[in-house]
Amino acid sequence: MKKIENLRTDYKRDQLNESSLASCPIEQFKLWFNEVLDVIIEPTAMVLSTYSQNKGVSSRVVLLKELQQDGFIFYTNYNSLKSEQIKLNPCVSLLFFWPDFQRQIRINGLVQKISHESSVNYFKKRPRKSQISAWASSQSSVIKDRFVLEALFHDFEKKFKNKTISKPPYWGGYKVVPNSIEFWQGRESRMHDRFLYTKHQNNKWIINRLSP
Ligand SMILES: Cc1cc2nc3c(=O)[nH]c(=O)nc-3n(C[C@H](O)[C@H](O)[C@H](O)COP(=O)(O)O)c2cc1C
Repeated sequence: MKKIENLRTDYKRDQLNESSLASCPIEQFKLWFNEVLDVIIEPTAMVLSTYSQNKGVSSRVVLLKELQQDGFIFYTNYNSLKSEQIKLNPCVSLLFFWPDFQRQIRINGLVQKISHESSVNYFKKRPRKSQISAWASSQSSVIKDRFVLEALFHDFEKKFKNKTISKPPYWGGYKVVPNSIEFWQGRESRMHDRFLYTKHQNNKWIINRLSP
């Protein structure tokens, strides 16, 4: 096996310049996202980190399901660990890492539940089996074995046979409203480009270049 300490990639693919940056980070996100969209796998996968005093820091991947002018939307179980932490502390971070493009995007912000109506609308668009699994899964709780989970799935399959599947009351969306977003483009010899957008009181975005 190769020594981990000797694994090294030099980032030469691209660069990010002041002159090419959009004035709004959501627009800049769209520019980058559109470039990676059809090229990489799981471009919508993002690491969501939450913190609460009782559980500490916790990170996991969730999928971006909608980008709005003021935030990033994902869906989950409102009884999960992440939701429990969000209830106690709405300050979260999101992180996208697109290695093929040698890019990282870090987002800090406040998270809020989206409307019940919006969650219902999205739930309707999910594949039927994903709708059933939302009913079968008490996300983040301990289960005895796989059999228990599959039995629950089959029970709900039977229950909803030939019926429209309603959204479980404990399932829905969150929107992360950013107060800062950093775009990182890997460069040669670790001389990376980093630009941090910070939202100021008048809702204007200030852009600063950061040292790599
Ligand atoms: C590629 C990928 C996509 C995922 N998408 C979601 C998602 O959109 N929503 C979600 O609740 N969990 C998603 N998960 C599962 C979470 O990472 C995590 O296991 C789950 O939400 C429970 O997290 P928690 O116990 O910290 O609340 C995804 C995992 C992976 C690896």
